[in-house]
Amino acid sequence: MDDRRIAVVTGGIGGLGTEICRHLARAGRRVIAADLPVREERLAGFAAETADLGDAVSFAPLDVTDFDACQDFAAGLERSHGAIDILVCAAGITRDTTLRKMDERQWRELMRVNLDGVFNACRAVVEGMTARGFGRIVNISSVNGQTGQFGQTNYAAAKAGIHGFTMALAREVARKGVTVNSVAPGYCRTAMVMAVPDAVREQIVAQIPVGRLGEPREIARTVAFLSDDDAGYITGALVPVNGGYFMSF
Ligand code: CAA
Repeated sequence: MDDRRIAVVTGGIGGLGTEICRHLARAGRRVIAADLPVREERLAGFAAETADLGDAVSFAPLDVTDFDACQDFAAGLERSHGAIDILVCAAGITRDTTLRKMDERQWRELMRVNLDGVFNACRAVVEGMTARGFGRIVNISSVNGQTGQFGQTNYAAAKAGIHGFTMALAREVARKGVTVNSVAPGYCRTAMVMAVPDAVREQIVAQIPVGRLGEPREIARTVAFLSDDDAGYITGALVPVNGGYFMSF
């Protein structure tokens, strides 16, 4: 019998997503990377990057901005695999520009993916998790939701909103064996961060006490930790993984 826990990672073929899939698979999970099917090259790359993990990682197309698609996706997986035990919401985009230049589309597109996407995905799995009495939800926030960042009013609002959502949902499902936490990555070596102009990125790295960008695996191992069966007493938390870029208590 296959008793592996089933994990869904939205944005699963993205910069952090792939490493999160790999870590969860190595922790004994059966992982479904849910992401837009549009990037064929990236899909082939993902298949190559996870080939060593056999059937522990697979890909399924999903647009997190589509509420009904998320409902159908979760219902389908529960039928085929019996459950969704772990949900990692890692789907996210940037539309960096100062507010004075930001148009409505740049605001709405980002909100639809980064914040509505978390609602759509969590809404689709929460009934099953509470009914079964077990669930681990990990939402990917950002240090820039904690500090704000020049040119990121949209992104900072969504990432701060994610943690408000996390805390509220954590309270609602705490008695049902379901934990909900956020991870707040700092600047990591992903395509999203490498797209920041070199001079801006170099200035940011100069302010990171650890003195370098983070590695996606450093985020992934935190996600794996929070989604472990033994992590049942951590809920409503925001775990920063930022090289000391922002410290608080
Ligand atoms: N702080 C203060 N002033 C700044 C500034 C800053 N960080 N950056 C630019 N300025 C200044 C400019 O020098 C300019 O001054 P003048 O008008 O006197 O010349 C003024 O602000 C306005 O600049 P612009 O509106 O013309 O800005 P721009 O078009 O040059 O660039 C930007 C704006 C695209 C947002 C650019 O600043 C940028 O890319 N910033 C980085 C944003 C960033 O860090 N994004 C993170 C993406 S990765 C991620 O988000 C992952 C994660 O979770 C960590």
